[in-house]
Amino acid sequence: MPRWFNTAGPCNPATHYMLPASRRLPEVRRLIDQEGYFVVHAPRQAGKTTALLSLAQELTSAGHHLAVLVSMEVGAAFPNDIGAAELAILESWKDALETQLPPALRPPPFSEAPPGRKIGTALATWTRTAPKPLVVFLDEVDALRDDVLVSVLRQLRDGYRNRPKHFPTSLALIGLRDVRDYKVASDDREHLGTSSPFNIKVRSLTLRDFTADEVAELYSQHTSDTGQRFEPDALTLAFELTQGQPWLVNALAKVAVEELVSDISQPIRRADIGRAKAVLIERQETHLDSLAERLREPRIRAILEPMLAGTIPGALPPGDVRFAVDLGLIRMTEAGAFDVTNPIYREVVVRELAFPSRAVLPPVLSPSSEPEQPRGTACPLA
Ligand SMILES: Nc1ncnc2c1ncn2[C@@H]1O[C@H](COP(=O)(O)OP(=O)(O)O)[C@@H](O)[C@H]1O
Ligand SMILES: [Mg+2]
Repeated sequence: MPRWFNTAGPCNPATHYMLPASRRLPEVRRLIDQEGYFVVHAPRQAGKTTALLSLAQELTSAGHHLAVLVSMEVGAAFPNDIGAAELAILESWKDALETQLPPALRPPPFSEAPPGRKIGTALATWTRTAPKPLVVFLDEVDALRDDVLVSVLRQLRDGYRNRPKHFPTSLALIGLRDVRDYKVASDDREHLGTSSPFNIKVRSLTLRDFTADEVAELYSQHTSDTGQRFEPDALTLAFELTQGQPWLVNALAKVAVEELVSDISQPIRRADIGRAKAVLIERQETHLDSLAERLREPRIRAILEPMLAGTIPGALPPGDVRFAVDLGLIRMTEAGAFDVTNPIYREVVVRELAFPSRAVLPPVLSPSSEPEQPRGTACPLA
């Protein structure tokens, strides 16, 4: 059966067209060999989970390490209860480890520890019993907030001193932002800044987008599996529109081959890619929708509105600019100016600023009142 273009979460090489996942993180192997603790940060839908999960699998199969990717995301539901956040996180690790590791490599049940010590204790006890040096990738770290985030980072720093015998030999924090930019409301500090409790990291890495050649390489996997070709100028347009943003690259091709040109004897032409773009924007696919949602934040609007109007924004707070870059909304051009990351995002932003679809969200109604227009109907383009 042919594979398909994946737009729903991390890729799986067995079923999805996929570029070698760790290619975009060439430095990571050395960091792990040197027992480093590091950060991998990139915007949403850039391929972080895919890359680190597949690297973990490669490392474990190579036989020198025991490597896993586990997520901190469920801890976000307990922003003020460290113990409850830790328990939820450890429970989700158990499930993740069952899918990632054969029984012989799974950790024994995590031992009891008081709140604020559970994550550190789990990592310490597992390291001691693991048959190989343990490498742990902690995904979605910046889903955590405030005291829970600070507690987890402190536990990691505390354990770091005891590695590699009593704490993972190498560990990565994966998220949208670099660790110094993690948001904490405690201690009257908005950001962790240089006093970060994770000041043990040796490097911060980010994931670049795909190159034009890589877009062609990914699309050619569909041609090998099905025989359906992409014309050269369709490839050119796909790169122009997406600038290699991984989710967009897959989403355009998926609409083109599955919905617009399902007859595989017909090639995908430039016009089909153009139509696929219109479909994605029209449909407000989740990824694009969550970008549009960001435009409700005044500090993001303050950056984007003048950028689209072509005026030079006054002095913008550097923290806000960095935030917009971390979100993947804007990037620095070769000329050293900032611009919206790619033409598809730009179109979403222009539409959202011109016709903010959420401005017509019905107000919260009492059961007796008549519903107003549903979301989007008052917006000519929504
Ligand atoms: N190695 C890859 N090859 C092809 N497409 C990829 C690859 N990695 C990610 N993608 C695309 O990016 C999307 C998001 O991947 P994911 O790993 O979940 O990103 P993140 O963790 O950064 O949000 C996938 O659904 C897929 O469309
Ligand atoms: Mg992810």
